[in-house]
Amino acid sequence: MPSHEIKLNTGATIPQIGLGTWRSTDDEEAYNAVVSAVKDAGYLHIDTAAIYGNEVAVGKGIKKAIEFLGGRDKIFVTTKLWGTQQREPKKALQQSLERLGLDYVDLYLIHWPVALKTRNCPNGDLMSIPTNPENPGVRDVDLEGWDFTKTWALMQELPATGMTKAIGVSNFSVNNLKTLYKSPDFKIPPAVNQVECHPLLPQFELLDFCRENNIVLEAYSPLGSAGSPLLKEEVIIELGKKYNVEPAQVCISWGVNRGYVVLPKSVHAERIKSNKVIVEMSKEDIAKIDNIHKTQGIQRFVNPPFEPFPIFE
Ligand code: A2P
Repeated sequence: MPSHEIKLNTGATIPQIGLGTWRSTDDEEAYNAVVSAVKDAGYLHIDTAAIYGNEVAVGKGIKKAIEFLGGRDKIFVTTKLWGTQQREPKKALQQSLERLGLDYVDLYLIHWPVALKTRNCPNGDLMSIPTNPENPGVRDVDLEGWDFTKTWALMQELPATGMTKAIGVSNFSVNNLKTLYKSPDFKIPPAVNQVECHPLLPQFELLDFCRENNIVLEAYSPLGSAGSPLLKEEVIIELGKKYNVEPAQVCISWGVNRGYVVLPKSVHAERIKSNKVIVEMSKEDIAKIDNIHKTQGIQRFVNPPFEPFPIFE
């Protein structure tokens, strides 16, 4: 297999496997995961987000990794803008950089395509998930005089500041991407769209759209998230036996073979290591995995309530 790097529309390269850190805690857990990923498993790409609440520990791990690798430019770092700060991405990025202890990130993403109100953030903490007082099960979405096209207009100013090398989006559907592309201030196309993607949510249409528009798709929850049924799926287990790898590696390799970035999360050194070992699959075997959803049904594991905003169609 090739060296597992992809070119972004900025001209930079992005390592195809990155360490996901959602649900890694802001202590030794996240720190150790990052250090072991880089030192023992050869990862050169770490993905975090302001709302994961672990940028401090992830940043300490990255600092250690930079010492080990011999330069900041040897590692690709992504973080994400949380909804409560969509009106001030520059300030939000500055705060993320302070928590991470970095001068810049390689990629900064709008985490979800909808802003959140700040009025009910517990203790005024913007790194929280405010819920709607009239409908407590739902996030307190901010659709008054704001939308993601305005956030993007501000995001476009960030690469010139040097605080991020590239900008992109996350959890954007084809419809929302089309809206973004048609918006009046749209100048810089997103470098990536990071979305849930695994054999039970293969994202054929979105992947085609991203390819046509030179956006790199990044797959989060490539194993189907915590407690995934995918790792017990018959086709996946059979292919694991055939290629002599774990079911998780089958899911990750399928994504790499399809040509996008894959972000498996683990805090266990052995899993972090094995998740990085990719096998080259035959077209027939890739097609077998492509077809699993036809018998098992499409399953989305990450679908937070942002009503009435349409996140996924
Ligand atoms: P842990 O962090 O305890 O290893 P996803 O990347 O799809 O969100 O999946 C992450 C989940 O899968 C986490 O619960 C993670 O747990 C678990 N996981 C990560 N790698 C493996 C693996 N190789 N085998 C089994 N489970 C894994």
